[in-house]
Amino acid sequence: MKKIFFTSAIAASVLFSSIAVAQSVETLRGAGVAEPVAVEDVFQQDEGRFTRNYRQQPPLIPHSVDQYQVDLKANRCLSCHDWTNAGERNAPTLSMTHYQDREGNQLDTVAGTRWFCNQCHVPQADAPALVENTFEPSN
Ligand code: HEC
Ligand code: HEC
Repeated sequence: MKKIFFTSAIAASVLFSSIAVAQSVETLRGAGVAEPVAVEDVFQQDEGRFTRNYRQQPPLIPHSVDQYQVDLKANRCLSCHDWTNAGERNAPTLSMTHYQDREGNQLDTVAGTRWFCNQCHVPQADAPALVENTFEPSN
C-alpha cells in the first residue's frame, strides 16, 4: 500500500511539474499551432531559362508547377511536353532520352523511368545557397 502511494505521489508530481513546464516552454516555431507562419520571401520562381551548370543537367523548370499533378495514373506535364502535344502547346518537346526504356528500346510513349518529372526537374529560383559551398559550373 505504501509503495502504491509512493509511486502515485511520484506520478502526480511528474504530472504537475510537466504542466508547469508546458506553460513556460516556448514553441520552436515561435507561434501557436493554428497560427500561420509566413515563409521568408526569397524562394521566388524565376522566369526566363537558366543556363545549365553542366552538360547533363536536367534543365530547370522556368514556370510554376503547383497546378500540375503527377501521380501513378496522371501526368499533367505531358499535356504540354509530350511529343504529341508540344507543337500546339508551344512547349519544348521531351528529348529522345525520355522515350527510351532501360534496355535502350525506343518507345512512342514516355518511359516509365521518366514518368516522375520532378525527380529530376525542379522549378528554378535564384535563391541563396542553403549550405555554404564552393560549387562552380563546368565549362
Ligand atoms: C501549360 C503547358 C505546360 C505544362 C502543363 C508544363 N509545362 Fe514545362 N514548359 C512549358 C513551356 C511553354 C516551356 C518553355 C518556357 C520558356 O521557354 O520560357 C516549358 C519549359 C519547361 C522546361 C525547360 C526546358 C528547357 O529546355 O529549358 C522544363 C524542364 C519543364 N518545362 C518541365 C515541366 C514539368 C516537369 C512539368 C510538370 C510538372 C511541366 N513542365 C508542365 C509549358 C508547360
Ligand atoms: C531521370 C531523370 C529525368 C526525368 C525523370 C525526366 N527528365 Fe526531362 N530531362 C532530363 C535530362 C538529364 C535532360 C537533359 C538531357 C536530355 O535531354 O536527356 C532532360 C531534358 C528535358 C527537357 C528539355 C528537352 C530539350 O530537348 O531541350 C524537357 C522539356 C524535359 N526534360 C521535361 C521532362 C518532363 C515533362 C518529364 C516528366 C514526364 C521529365 N522531363 C522527366 C532528366 C529527366
